Amino acid sequence: MQILVTGGAGFIGSHVCKALAKAGHVPVVFDNLSRGHAHAVRWGVLEQGDLQDQNRLVEVMQTHKIEAVIHLAALAYVGESVTQPDLYYQNNVLGTYALLQAMRRCKVMRLVFSSSCATYGLPQKQPIDTDCPQSPINPYGRTKLICEQMIEDFVQSFEMGSVILRYFNAAGADPEGEIGENHEPETHLLPIALQVAAGLRTHLDVYGADYPTADGTCVRDYIHVSDLAAGHVLAIDRCQINKVLKCNLGLGRGYSVNEVLDCAQRITGRTIARNYVSRRAGDPPILVCDPRSSRQLLDWQPQYKELAVMVEHAWRWLTKTN
Ligand code: UFG
Repeated sequence: MQILVTGGAGFIGSHVCKALAKAGHVPVVFDNLSRGHAHAVRWGVLEQGDLQDQNRLVEVMQTHKIEAVIHLAALAYVGESVTQPDLYYQNNVLGTYALLQAMRRCKVMRLVFSSSCATYGLPQKQPIDTDCPQSPINPYGRTKLICEQMIEDFVQSFEMGSVILRYFNAAGADPEGEIGENHEPETHLLPIALQVAAGLRTHLDVYGADYPTADGTCVRDYIHVSDLAAGHVLAIDRCQINKVLKCNLGLGRGYSVNEVLDCAQRITGRTIARNYVSRRAGDPPILVCDPRSSRQLLDWQPQYKELAVMVEHAWRWLTKTN
């Protein structure tokens, strides 16, 4: 199938393209390169364009005879969304609206949407399943929830089918070392920790040690980016007219910030200096996935379940590229 991958030049998007190509699909990347990298587009062509440009989207869909869309393009920094919510509503919400309209015009009916566990906010219970009420606590999460709702409405009324994937924390890098994480600016825990280990930074700030968790630091569910990518390939075949499937993609095990740092120290054999500072706005204390939806609806089977393996792959990528 010819599949449009919006945001395909980004960290998760580039791994999705590799997984699609391996499965025999033809990825076509649509990216404005504001956060992604042209060099990460190694499977399929790069069509540069802005998601809010509906006519450009239509042109690309028609040129490449697109049959399905995987929509990852979005701004995705929780902290930035708190200080600049306007950018998030513009890019994420208006961009998704333009994409849906372009899909209607081109009669492209299948959509896999990249959503987030950030839509759950402060969940009442852990682990989090897809029925858990969604009540995001930051603008980023709210834009993703609005997009989910918009997709549901379009699917009900316009003969479309969608799978919504709510990611937990993507980590690691391509096990074959071809692509990896390369954000600018980097704000994510594991890459920053590894940059400290590599001597590229002096220390890491731990945002809050007074959370209601075992060691006081935030707990997240880390999922290997290649397993996350595999979930998208499975989801393409599950898009059915007038149906929206919702899946949580995570492993069902939480690690605190301190546990991640300890693991990174073990794998790299280096000390990672940490400073304990105040909390970062918009961070929920605990987000752990109940992955049953993905297993049942997608028949998704993660291959890389150990945090140590995610750290090892990310470390291999960092040391190769620096
Ligand atoms: N953290 C630190 N210091 C750092 C960076 C992060 O202590 O320098 C902490 C954060 O406070 C958080 C944890 O490490 O508790 C993980 O932070 P990340 O920034 O790596 O990831 P987030 O959980 O904030 O965000 C990720 C994705 C978002 C997604 C979100 C869902 O980047 O797109 O998960 O919670 F929405």
